[in-house]
Amino acid sequence: MNARTQAEAKALPEVPGYQPRAVTQAAFAPDFISRMAANDAAAAPERHEIYHFVHKGLRAAMSDALVRLGRVDLDSAVDRTEVPAAVADLLQLCREHLEHENNFLHTAMEKVVPGSSHACADDHMHHVKTIADLKTRLDEAATAEPLMRERAFKVLYRLLASFVAENFAHMEIEESANTELLWRHYSDADLLAVEHQIHAHIKPERMMTWLRWILPNVTRQQRAVMMRGMQAAMPAELFGGVLEMVKPHLSEVERAALVADLA
Ligand SMILES: [Fe+2]
Repeated sequence: MNARTQAEAKALPEVPGYQPRAVTQAAFAPDFISRMAANDAAAAPERHEIYHFVHKGLRAAMSDALVRLGRVDLDSAVDRTEVPAAVADLLQLCREHLEHENNFLHTAMEKVVPGSSHACADDHMHHVKTIADLKTRLDEAATAEPLMRERAFKVLYRLLASFVAENFAHMEIEESANTELLWRHYSDADLLAVEHQIHAHIKPERMMTWLRWILPNVTRQQRAVMMRGMQAAMPAELFGGVLEMVKPHLSEVERAALVADLA
């Protein structure tokens, strides 16, 4: 490799064609804490927060993939395969999630307030483009020659960090503004019906992946409620499969707490 190519390999990553999206003022709902307080059971009858669990799972999956990418061992063939595969899995989750929101939640929003889903739908279109960009960079990083590897992984890391940052801001808008709109126009029974439609749409093998990210990354109390519900509703063998899938992702203390909560 000549000197110029070596210099290029060490240059700061440039990401042609990628424009991080400016976060608008509206991205931060300043009174979201008081709105959350208003939803506390003590203050008001608790309403169903349709985004809460799935977004907790997504935030965990995004954080995990980003941290793994940041600490990848570039000399390890195993890492160079497994870490990009983890990022690819995250991108698939993100793609599925935005489709669920477009098809079910945005449809519900448009039915009662035409135009109310446009800003988030627009964000989703930008996310789709970024996911495609990330996939290209992912393939480049996974197959990069040794001298180009550091740069390829650095580009990928920064792109993913920008994508995660955008998604965190976007999810907050959904959990504050969209939730408020949905609460104004729909009952909890209506929202649960929408949620059931989304669940029915997810293939069983993909549901296991969603549960892998959601169940370990909610509070002990939320996990207990969700898993007791599954224990009561599922055939024992199927529930046993979910339990075994979740356990490796819990700490020893969390595992013991879950066993106690399910007894
Ligand atoms: Fe969204």
